Amino acid sequence: METLEHLFKKNKDWADSILKEDPAFFQRLSKIQAPELLWIGCSDSRVPANEITDLAPGEVFVHRNIANVVVHTDLNCLSVIQFAVEVLKIKHIIVCGHYGCGGIKAALEDKDHGLIDNWLGHIKDVSRLNQQELSHLSGAEKVDRLCELNVIEQVNNVCNTTIVKNAWKNEVELYVHGWIYNIENGILNDLINTPISGESTLV
Ligand code: CO
Repeated sequence: METLEHLFKKNKDWADSILKEDPAFFQRLSKIQAPELLWIGCSDSRVPANEITDLAPGEVFVHRNIANVVVHTDLNCLSVIQFAVEVLKIKHIIVCGHYGCGGIKAALEDKDHGLIDNWLGHIKDVSRLNQQELSHLSGAEKVDRLCELNVIEQVNNVCNTTIVKNAWKNEVELYVHGWIYNIENGILNDLINTPISGESTLV
């Protein structure tokens, strides 16, 4: 039987190393979490939010699913956004995709993947919306461009949630970002440059 004993050992070493640097770290963090960031990313094991941004526990609230999709009827994702915005009062929502995303690749294939095809349908919609541009591309180039377009579409979906719209109506300082991560070199890039805020809707 595999009990994954090595993970408990690694965990103990990790906790010890943090305590060595900062003896009050866990005590302090156990009282309150006050992250400024909400990360909506892909479940892909190569894109862990904390590690690639070098953030400590307590600094980023995270939601991940296949291909970082924000669906208006997904209670899981919406609950995360609501809690992050209304309770944690985070200041930034980051939608982060990554090049070479398996979910995006699968959405471009015309074959049966089983249940997941229902989820990938959201990405097929993004593909259809951008058909003209994508039709000029093929192979990895097409996948990577759809990875970018998907981030932009999901940023749009975040901005259109009642949660974010209400926050902006109430003049809450809240920015929405669209980023993409390159799994080949570990580098993050901003796809939007100027984060979207509620300023244009403020009176
Ligand atoms: Co992915």
